Amino acid sequence: MKIAILPGDGIGPEIVDQAVKVLNTLGQSFEMETAPVGGAGYAAHGHPLPDATLKLAKEADAILFGAVGDWQYDNLERALRPEQAILGLRKHLTLFANFRPAILYPELVGASTLKPEVVSGLDILIVRELNGDIYFGQPRGVREAPDGPFKGAREGFDTMRYSEPEIRRIAHVAFQAARKRSKRLTSVDKANVLETFQFWKDIMIDIHKEYPDIELDHMYVDNAAMQLVRAPKKFDVIVTGNMFGDILSDAAAMLTGSIGMLPSASLDANNKGLYEPSHGSAPDIAGKGIANPLATILSAAMMLRFSLNLPAEADRIEAAVKKVLSQGLRTADIYEAGTTKVGTAEMGDAVVKALV
Ligand code: IPM
Ligand code: MG
Repeated sequence: MKIAILPGDGIGPEIVDQAVKVLNTLGQSFEMETAPVGGAGYAAHGHPLPDATLKLAKEADAILFGAVGDWQYDNLERALRPEQAILGLRKHLTLFANFRPAILYPELVGASTLKPEVVSGLDILIVRELNGDIYFGQPRGVREAPDGPFKGAREGFDTMRYSEPEIRRIAHVAFQAARKRSKRLTSVDKANVLETFQFWKDIMIDIHKEYPDIELDHMYVDNAAMQLVRAPKKFDVIVTGNMFGDILSDAAAMLTGSIGMLPSASLDANNKGLYEPSHGSAPDIAGKGIANPLATILSAAMMLRFSLNLPAEADRIEAAVKKVLSQGLRTADIYEAGTTKVGTAEMGDAVVKALV
């Protein structure tokens, strides 16, 4: 089994190192090959997603991705910015289904900014569509306004659009995910204002007929944002578009105390996937050895489960992460008085040691 290792920028390399260390301790023979991506790709080959990196990603069975982005690349033209690497991988590999679980480990209940009774026991899953929406819709750009009260003035514009097959395939993924959990699915839209999301809602209702065992409800995105911080445990599986999913998944992440804990999987129709922590490259703490590697280690566990068909090994990693938390080990982002503060590599070593 071949894994493409794409560490990226900022804290990417140091957290990916820890996940690789854990994978290498499982007693499986993985073939791993590393390639530069993001700012590192630009520095090495003049493009955030170099051809050789894309080729490796295409031929691998799964991709372990760190994070991309660094201030030094912020002034490049858009096509060369680090973020284009992840957007390009999602698009070129048709990774349309993004799973972002938000689980609160009991040991971290005090690390959340929300009251313990609001978040304890939280276990929700956001299924975010990743190939469409305003992220990729054409046309887009800056032009002279063709009409309206500011006709002739410069304006920026993007296009929100979703095709029926795109909505259908993410709907099936979400209904099937709900079937494996508590059989409740909330579709988040903005059907009260946007044509795109009235259409989204209509398709969801249609596909629901194929899943009569699942309870489907619909929520406007603004209300969903409010409910996520008011009563997050009312949700189980949420399905939504690319833009709303981007925003809601960051909000959901903070319910769990730290975005440093949250893994994610981005899958194609055959369960080939890219696995990355939900957090970014955090250039402000890069190289300091203090970043939390657990989201990346948990992403590696998702990779074993979804793409490499090694569910028992995935369980072993997740159990090891629970164990280090119960031992009181914490990186700075989840540190509380009375626990033991450790660095990135120490946390990785502790997970290795906790593997049974
Ligand atoms: C995410 C990130 C990306 C996104 C950026 C880095 C392009 O915020 O994975 O949530 O907007 O999808
Ligand atoms: Mg985001």
